[in-house]
Amino acid sequence: MKTGAVTRRDFIRIGAGVATTGLATNVTVLEPLHLAAAPRAVPPSDTIRFAIIGTGIEGCKLLICSLAIPGVECVAAADLYDGRHIAAQEALGGKNIETTREYRRLIDRQDVDAILCATSDHWHRRIVEEACQAGKDVFCEKPMSHTVEDGAAMVAAVRRYDRICEVGSHRVSSILYAKAKEIWESGKLGMVDTIQAVMDHNTDTGAYVNPVPSDAGPETIDWNTWQSGAPARPFDANRFFSWRQFKDYGTGQAGDLFVHLLSGIHFVTSTHQPPERAYSSGGICFYKDGRDYPDLLWTLYDYPQFKLVLRCNSNNGSEGECTTFYGKNGSMVIRSKTLTYKPEPPSHQMDAYTVYGWPKSLREQYQAAWKKEHPLPSVWDFRLEEDEAETFTLPPGYDDKTEHLANFFHAVRTRQRVVEDELFGNTTALGCHMSNLSYFNRTAVVWDAATQQVRNA
Ligand SMILES: NC(=O)c1ccc[n+]([C@@H]2O[C@H](COP(=O)([O-])OP(=O)(O)OC[C@H]3O[C@@H](n4cnc5c(N)ncnc54)[C@H](O)[C@@H]3O)[C@@H](O)[C@H]2O)c1
Repeated sequence: MKTGAVTRRDFIRIGAGVATTGLATNVTVLEPLHLAAAPRAVPPSDTIRFAIIGTGIEGCKLLICSLAIPGVECVAAADLYDGRHIAAQEALGGKNIETTREYRRLIDRQDVDAILCATSDHWHRRIVEEACQAGKDVFCEKPMSHTVEDGAAMVAAVRRYDRICEVGSHRVSSILYAKAKEIWESGKLGMVDTIQAVMDHNTDTGAYVNPVPSDAGPETIDWNTWQSGAPARPFDANRFFSWRQFKDYGTGQAGDLFVHLLSGIHFVTSTHQPPERAYSSGGICFYKDGRDYPDLLWTLYDYPQFKLVLRCNSNNGSEGECTTFYGKNGSMVIRSKTLTYKPEPPSHQMDAYTVYGWPKSLREQYQAAWKKEHPLPSVWDFRLEEDEAETFTLPPGYDDKTEHLANFFHAVRTRQRVVEDELFGNTTALGCHMSNLSYFNRTAVVWDAATQQVRNA
């Protein structure tokens, strides 16, 4: 807080008449940076040719994003459900690319520079390892890993084959989070002991109950390949389309949604280590449909510098998504497209509470002494807390997913570092695995840096 800022209490003491200007919060529309700074025209010889594995919901979104990025071209797509071959081509505006069920054909293509992996989580490790081994750079959707062991193996593969790997939690590329990082690093929040974030929904889709297309069946879906590595089961379209409910293929709310919150928070706070400890609570409160993962999940994390509380509730969406950093000098709230900084009143104030247990004469003596020691600033220096509040919003049409993908292709072209590499992705995924392990083990878990394992506390 700037010198001369006054609290509401001071304001009343001074009289409202002297300081009535500037009560409206400052609002700034942020300017897009990265993609705007990218070269508009890329010579054909510099075009990055990529292939995508997994063209479901997210794969198709990535394809649509890629159309806005200069100098990149999708040349092939693999998916185990035939309907998604058509969806991929449609996402590319009807472009006639190679489509196949066999992802390995894409990795083996000599004319492919990079692989985008947007499969269910249980396939990420194999695709990243094989792509790296084949000399391809790889963009892997979040959460990077399905298990703690997978994450370590993926980091090792990227390093061994010296590839570029970007993980797909796009808040890390958002100009809103860049502003949050700037505010965090300015020290304006003061000491921050608590961060809290929620991502709540109240829809079936938000609870991972996905519709099944009418043509889905063993003829149109390569079920055996999809479930390889997981316990064998007879064909089950619900498992295929609503895989996030099940441990064999997904990572539940933690891997699906906490990962975004954790990525944003790790980015803002420059956190490069998994949390030291995690304790989860929650349950399958409403969707008692045979799923493994809870529809309500809370996790309390211990980091060296702060405590973090995360929640995903599939049964009430009133909070939506919101991340709050609570500092001694101010709070920073990221909600949807908006970031707000709000100062705290100074904690060192004249006591107006406990002194009511004092004799009147001593109370008045204390208050007089306080006012003498803390003279009010001149009227010209008055600033209300409201004056110091700031709000930043995203410009219309801004899309951090496209920024994030553009960052990957930029790195592929220039061999510069990505904003969210395999170490960053692994660290945040570990936070997700700790949440799930705590939930299922019904105990707190800790990250054991010496063994690189999660164990019960
Ligand atoms: N970054 C984000 O905002 C975001 C949003 C949604 C999903 N995701 C992530 O993207 C990934 C995919 O999620 P989704 O919602 O698109 O799921 P989805 O079920 O809609 O699509 C996944 C597709 O991957 C295909 N697939 C799986 N294994 C394959 C293999 N071996 N070879 C070829 N195709 C294979 C499946 O056939 C399926 O069509 C997940 O890891 C998810 O967490 C990220």
